[in-house]
Amino acid sequence: GKTIHFYESLPSTQQVAKELALNGATEGTLVISDEQTLGRGRLARAWHSPKGTGIWTSIIIRPKIPIQQAPQLTLLTAVAAVQAIEEQTDIDVSIKWPNDLLINGKKVCGILTELQAEENQIQSIIIGIGINVNQQLTDFPEELHSIATSLSMEVNDKINRAKLVQSLCFHLEKLYETYLTLGFQPIKLLWESYALSIGKQITARTLNGTYSGIALGINEQGVLLLETSDGKIQH
Ligand code: BTN
Repeated sequence: GKTIHFYESLPSTQQVAKELALNGATEGTLVISDEQTLGRGRLARAWHSPKGTGIWTSIIIRPKIPIQQAPQLTLLTAVAAVQAIEEQTDIDVSIKWPNDLLINGKKVCGILTELQAEENQIQSIIIGIGINVNQQLTDFPEELHSIATSLSMEVNDKINRAKLVQSLCFHLEKLYETYLTLGFQPIKLLWESYALSIGKQITARTLNGTYSGIALGINEQGVLLLETSDGKIQH
């Protein structure tokens, strides 16, 4: 069985999931909160997570894969989130590298994966997923108005969050099984089919720096390949 830890309010589901993982929680353990008071995004940004409006969840997995392949799981999660949202809303969602989900150019979902390793072996990966579901524009801070959206703003209707979480778990589990049996290739093809940026000029911000170039696709490790103006291929 898989355990679900539900909270009305937490600083961050990511933090609780990390502690559970360190204490031996099994693969598939899920932490979900109705509100986060200290939600975190990539690159040390804040993730606005008001009460009752979104899906704020962190899931523990323990894949037995080389550490260099960990980015594959982020891409897999993005595909699962696209499939769940499209299934529940009939809206077209696209992926902006590495793992932002956009609707009409505005961000509706973000993914943050964090890894715990010992002696270069993965102990656990914490997959954090934030989906803006039932917010209205005024629920977002002013500075996000032009760049963020919610599912209900896009469909002009309230979305059932329970069904959406269920669908997210279903697709995540299905893709993860595919990944464990067939490898990354089928996931890579799905990811590329949803990705906006292939063949386009983009700027990728990472903790190691900022790179600009033409996005060529992703390699077997799940790392973006960028062709910079001097013709070099950046990973
Ligand atoms: C990003 O786009 O920068 C990633 C956002 C990830 C947000 C989710 S919400 C659940 C989990 N808990 C957090 O504090 N962050 C992630």
